[in-house]
Amino acid sequence: MKLTILGGGGFRVPLVYGALLTDRGAERVTEVVLQDPDERRLHAVTRVLGEQAAGVPDAPAVTATTDLDEALRGARFVFSAIRVGGLEGRAHDERVALAEGVLGQETVGAGGIAYGLRTVPVAVDIARRVARLAPDAWVINFTNPAGLVTEAMSRHLGDRVLGICDSPVGLGRRIARVLGADPKEAFIDYVGLNHLGWVRALRVAGRDELPRLLGDPALLGSFEEGRLFGADWLRSLGAVPNEYLHYYYFNRETVRAYQEAGKTRGAFLRDQQARFYAEAADPAVSALRAWDRTRAEREATYMAENRESAGAGEREAEDLSGGYEKVALALMRAIARDERATLILNVRNRSALSALDADAVVEVPCLVDASGAHPFAVDPLPGHAAGLVCAVKAVEREVLAAAESGSRATAVKAFALHPLVDSVTVARRLVERYIEVHPGLAYLA
Ligand code: G6P
Ligand code: MN
Repeated sequence: MKLTILGGGGFRVPLVYGALLTDRGAERVTEVVLQDPDERRLHAVTRVLGEQAAGVPDAPAVTATTDLDEALRGARFVFSAIRVGGLEGRAHDERVALAEGVLGQETVGAGGIAYGLRTVPVAVDIARRVARLAPDAWVINFTNPAGLVTEAMSRHLGDRVLGICDSPVGLGRRIARVLGADPKEAFIDYVGLNHLGWVRALRVAGRDELPRLLGDPALLGSFEEGRLFGADWLRSLGAVPNEYLHYYYFNRETVRAYQEAGKTRGAFLRDQQARFYAEAADPAVSALRAWDRTRAEREATYMAENRESAGAGEREAEDLSGGYEKVALALMRAIARDERATLILNVRNRSALSALDADAVVEVPCLVDASGAHPFAVDPLPGHAAGLVCAVKAVEREVLAAAESGSRATAVKAFALHPLVDSVTVARRLVERYIEVHPGLAYLA
């Protein structure tokens, strides 16, 4: 079974390959094709994977190519994990927004819109090629902003593209643990858009355990999101939001903290990873050891700016290791082996969330089997949450429209309508600045 990884020279690819190496079951991946436009990145990551595979019997064979079409032909699964504009692009996304006094972050607010505007045209091109060259392949989209990018691709691939994120399952796991429940036995009623969702219930044997958490200040203070949002606010909401909602509920504080931080997360990762790729180019150096050192450093600083300013502690290592690669592998397995699994995924809404239309990509629990992912029917969102979800979906739709038409006015509309951009004047300036710094936005000029 052939798996193609787009963005195959990316820093997180060894996590995916490491997970594949532990898979001994039937219908497993035997061939991995890494595709990336950058030869140097491919070379570095191929070396890491080679060292990971040493001594592992039947390790999946790895090849690398810069040719997208060649990589796609014959693929049964395609992981799309590209980063258009690289981490340099992310650093610009974050810096430009903060300079205008609004949130500068990878996926939320102005930064996320800029990232989306750059990424959608490339993702659409990939989707069209998959539809032509590998029409039976399943595409698992890792690329952020994941909900928006998955929706762009779904317009060409229908339900054969599924978007993933590690944050809902991570949140569910932390809540289950605090409640003394087995995360595997719990049904997490998590609903929203990517990086914009809420856990409204956690059912164990049909019983909702969340009220027990919300009623207990000590329990609320004992896990990350409890400290991040504060017990009072969680009780007011009657739900536990995804950590990314911190950017909405505590916007001023985060913007200020990020402005004062000096270096953005994107700039930090850009410099850190540049060192890794330089080291891994030296044949005398163990690429795996260089990668592992860089990974540990990255994890130690995981969203640290945000956490510290909110008075919350560091993320537990266990959460970090249960990331994207685990979700992707569980999803691939459920489809390839027709093993039913319940996973929180980004899929077309159908009728799951009544506030949105059928084609809107939403993040909801799904039943997955060989026929794909089927969203569970979920309870409607309360007014405040439905309002936010609809507002952000409307922004995503403007991003998709701007990417399709190349209209600068539509791009301005996308920024201006975002709840975290507080003036049309600011939106206009953001579009100007982003076009100046991003070659990938030349189509809007
Ligand atoms: C979580 C999110 C991802 C996001 C990442 C950022 O895993 O689910 O969508 O890309 O955090 O982490 P980073 O280390 O790149 O700041
Ligand atoms: Mn995510």
